[in-house]
Amino acid sequence: MKTTTPTVPTPDDAALWHEGALYLADQRLLPDRAEFLRLTDAGAVADAIRAMVVRGAPAIGVAAAYGVALAGRDAYAAAGAGWKAAIESDLDRLAASRPTAVNLFWAIDRMRRLIARLDERDPFPALVDEALAIHAEDRAANHVIGDLGAALIEGPTDIITHCNAGAIATGGYGTALGVIRSAYAAGKVGRVFADETRPWMQGARLTAWELMHDGIPVTLQADGAAASLMAGRSVGWVIVGSDRIAANGDVANKIGTYGLAILARYHGIKFMVAAPTSTIDLEIARGEDIPIEERDPEELLSCGDRRLAPAGCVARNPVFDVTPADLVDAIVTERGVVLHPTKEKVRALMGGWGL
Ligand code: MRU
Repeated sequence: MKTTTPTVPTPDDAALWHEGALYLADQRLLPDRAEFLRLTDAGAVADAIRAMVVRGAPAIGVAAAYGVALAGRDAYAAAGAGWKAAIESDLDRLAASRPTAVNLFWAIDRMRRLIARLDERDPFPALVDEALAIHAEDRAANHVIGDLGAALIEGPTDIITHCNAGAIATGGYGTALGVIRSAYAAGKVGRVFADETRPWMQGARLTAWELMHDGIPVTLQADGAAASLMAGRSVGWVIVGSDRIAANGDVANKIGTYGLAILARYHGIKFMVAAPTSTIDLEIARGEDIPIEERDPEELLSCGDRRLAPAGCVARNPVFDVTPADLVDAIVTERGVVLHPTKEKVRALMGGWGL
């Protein structure tokens, strides 16, 4: 918990709990402006998730956990001993904010399990403690993921990453960028190539910002430039995060990830997925069952105030795709590494958890 009022967010301090409020770096404004939004109720947290003030699967889960704490405070203020019934509408609102990142539902379920154990007294302190624990555990997990992932890399080599799976997409340090940070510290990274990641530009706006902040060499490239870079043979790994991993090891991640995995296999380049076990959904058997978010086509048809496509042009905007487990060389989690994932290996990693 912060003791002074948060002022300017940094990559590693992009979500903070301070004096009963959640401070989130407004990721829509980066990299031009680094500003916090101060959120004081669950509805505002749900709106912030939907509007992509905060994005990235683990960060969405962390934000939702704090949202549940705020919901508990308001439910107790409104209904006293009847707070458990009063909190339900806010839990539903948080759960409806985005569909693909399972960390959102994982965090709400974990908060729900605590709610079930609490009595009729004010739940706020216990809910805040649980949200802080979720946040701290995710950050700690990412450091373990970073070390385990870096150990797989023989360097120095160049790396391609897609979207932003960095400190601001998580509880801190990052998943894919956590691996890159740890590998860079070990002298194993020559240069990181960040795909710009149309249409929301997480790579250009957020990954480049994070890596430049840390002094890690990064080159931005158009999404379509990955194939020609791979043909040049300097890239040893593609490293990405994930929004949901099915029980058989199929991986949902930002749109374009599947194409990168195919390209990597063709060019003999390894493909790593870095994610905490809170991203693994054993209730989803195969990737094709993962709900894929479709966002407003306007995200493609315009760029800021400028219209890109002719008026009336039809566009589709699925914002995630599924990479089959066959194309994944390693899933790296805080509980260990799964090489060439299969249903059996994922189940063994999870040890029956979450079943
Ligand atoms: O739509 P977003 O920005 O929330 O999507 C996030 C991603 O898909 C990231 O690539 C990431 O790997 C998963 S979260 C660390």
